[in-house]
Amino acid sequence: MAAGVFLFVAVNLACLSVSGILVSGERSFSIDYKNNCFLKDGKPFQYISGSIHYSRIPRYYWKDRLLKMYMTGLNAIQVYVPWNFHETVQGVQNFTGDRDLGHFLDLANQTGLLVILRPGPYICAEWEMGGLPAWLLQKPNIILRSADTDYIQAVSNWLAVLLPKMKPWLYINGGNIITIQVENEYGSYFACDYNYMRHLRTLFRLFLGEDTVLFTTDGNTDKEMACGTLEGLYATVDFGTDTNITQAFSRQRRFEPQGPLVNSEFYTGWLDHWGDQHAVVDAQKVSRVLEEMLIIGANVNMYMFEGGTNFGYWNGADHDTRFRSVVTSYDYDAPLSEAGDPTEKLLAIRDVIKQFRDIPSGPMPPATPKFAYGFVTLKKVGNINGLLNTLSPLGPVKSQYPLTFEEMKQYYGYMLYRTTLPRDLSEPTPLISPLNGVHDRAYVSVNGVFQGLLQRDTVLVMNVTGQQGDTLDILVENMGRVNFGSKINDYKGLLSNLILGRDVLSNWTIYPLDIDGAIAGGWPHSDSQKSFPVPKDQSVGPVLYMGTLQPNGLAWDTFVKLHEWTKGQIWINGINLGRYWPARGPQQTLYVPGPLLSTTLPNNITVLELERAPAHLRVLFMDRPQINVIAGKS
Ligand SMILES: *[C@@H]1O[C@H](CO)[C@@H](O)[C@H](O)[C@H]1NC(C)=O
Ligand SMILES: *[C@@H]1O[C@H](CO)[C@@H](O)[C@H](O)[C@H]1NC(C)=O
Ligand SMILES: *[C@@H]1O[C@H](CO)[C@@H](O)[C@H](O)[C@H]1NC(C)=O
Ligand SMILES: *[C@@H]1O[C@H](CO)[C@@H](O)[C@H](O)[C@H]1NC(C)=O
Ligand SMILES: *[C@@H]1O[C@H](CO)[C@@H](O)[C@H](O)[C@H]1NC(C)=O
Ligand SMILES: *[C@@H]1O[C@H](CO)[C@@H](O)[C@H](O)[C@H]1NC(C)=O
Repeated sequence: MAAGVFLFVAVNLACLSVSGILVSGERSFSIDYKNNCFLKDGKPFQYISGSIHYSRIPRYYWKDRLLKMYMTGLNAIQVYVPWNFHETVQGVQNFTGDRDLGHFLDLANQTGLLVILRPGPYICAEWEMGGLPAWLLQKPNIILRSADTDYIQAVSNWLAVLLPKMKPWLYINGGNIITIQVENEYGSYFACDYNYMRHLRTLFRLFLGEDTVLFTTDGNTDKEMACGTLEGLYATVDFGTDTNITQAFSRQRRFEPQGPLVNSEFYTGWLDHWGDQHAVVDAQKVSRVLEEMLIIGANVNMYMFEGGTNFGYWNGADHDTRFRSVVTSYDYDAPLSEAGDPTEKLLAIRDVIKQFRDIPSGPMPPATPKFAYGFVTLKKVGNINGLLNTLSPLGPVKSQYPLTFEEMKQYYGYMLYRTTLPRDLSEPTPLISPLNGVHDRAYVSVNGVFQGLLQRDTVLVMNVTGQQGDTLDILVENMGRVNFGSKINDYKGLLSNLILGRDVLSNWTIYPLDIDGAIAGGWPHSDSQKSFPVPKDQSVGPVLYMGTLQPNGLAWDTFVKLHEWTKGQIWINGINLGRYWPARGPQQTLYVPGPLLSTTLPNNITVLELERAPAHLRVLFMDRPQINVIAGKS
């Protein structure tokens, strides 16, 4: 152990003793291969950085989170740019409001934080499809993250918008971006296509110039390093607290014999999938390994420092042995909590950083105030099948066989597939997805009466009864596209035919649903004088509920708990807070950022419960989160 560590100490002390040879006034950021470090304005520079994703935090709180990171003693942040967040419609980019990346970079700059930018185009990040826009899947068999012509064309168009926009923020141009990552852990992807990486290198150089430090990040195996690295892109590694740092940095050294040691993702915590135990990484372990890395002069980015929230439909998923979707909270057991509050882990990290650099004086900004607004009782609006005039303004598409979400050009959320029973089914008759083509969950009703569900990889058959000609409705939920591995071409909806008894179902009427559009437009609260047609006995299956949280003059953060509800989606004042699934856990409450609440107007709550609501129909607004309870299997 001693020998390895000693080698690095020697190498890096040399680096730290280099004296500046700065041409006065000139801003520069580069790699000093001779002395194994970064050079900022000609002087040795070591970064202590933390990851923060602006797409997971309301714009209102960006400054608060950045200031807390600065006060911990960080000198840099690391930021992913999710392509699909900015270009939801092909060719139309959005950089305003919560998507205002320029404003985020300005705030970081004003706070005194440098930026390590990770523009992808693929980012992983446990984000929907790893940040790739789902419209790429309109080309069947597209090979994502490769030199596939259509993929490359789309990537080139996007980078031709994004990278020139970033250029003024480069450190050498007066901004705060010191380094830029190309792709993300590319070596872990099966394609291993050097032509793709070469093409990216050309684009990044073209739009950012020859003087920008470009780098790659890869997992800690030789195979990953071999496929993910490329001449001209500085190779860095990522690893967590359970890795032997001597071995990990030796691996980086095999690919970069000279230059700074860099851990681009030092894991402070980890993600949760629905049904997992809540992941926890010990604070003492994090601070100890951080200290070991800083002692040898390594540059470290902590992933995550502030995780935030997968609002709306932005969570990703994994597909190893089966499909597993990531929970709404991206708390990550990070040093700043999901709601941006300093934790014990943050204080332990700050104590470590203090030994290596002067940390800003002054108090750590406190946790934002939280409020327990209490119970709100909801009332039924109606079941989804009865509300199609409102929820499907474009109307249905007829198709003999089912179309995917991508073919329908509805990429996220829920879609309804309707047909009729081809014959009388007086006995329970199996409805089968023989090719496992339900992506990801299907809620099945006959004449508006819920019959059960099908689920990708795990529930491929259920029973149905009814009469010939009865309406069969199948609401399909996209639970977030796979963000990692070889299965990122994750088409949604019904991908293959369903079989009912001995009939292949056909003659579909497919309703694209814009539930978010309706709710953002004020519905159903704007219609509340009307009584909605509620079928009797309809308390199971996909049903919408509404209620109001009366204003009390406060717009403080809160956490909404859907105790005894089963699975669904919740909106407040038109904003989609994300998915809930307390029957699965571990997440039991959803974060409600205070700025979404009105201090004077009734706050409009809408819930889409997909399976079964509790008789009490209440939701509870609490002053603390509960994200670590496995409630049982479902
Ligand atoms: C880490 O790896 C080095 C080199 O293989 C070895 O000498 C050392 O004992 C390991 N350290 C720990 C804590 O396992
Ligand atoms: C762009 O994004 C912002 C913030 O999410 C949103 O308010 C706005 O409506 C979007 N603009 C367009 C044209 O979609
Ligand atoms: C960053 O901040 C510095 C001063 O803190 C300012 O001089 C500079 O113009 C800012 N850069 C950008 C790109 O906003
Ligand atoms: C369907 O019904 C049959 C007959 O009642 C029963 O044997 C079978 O277990 C049921 N299958 C499922 C998946 O519920
Ligand atoms: C297809 O469905 C429509 C209703 O959408 C119905 O009128 C028509 O008869 C059906 N055709 C066949 C061949 O079943
Ligand atoms: C809630 O909905 C009502 C009815 O449409 C509307 O008057 C009110 O402004 C909404 N509240 C907020 C906070 O938007």
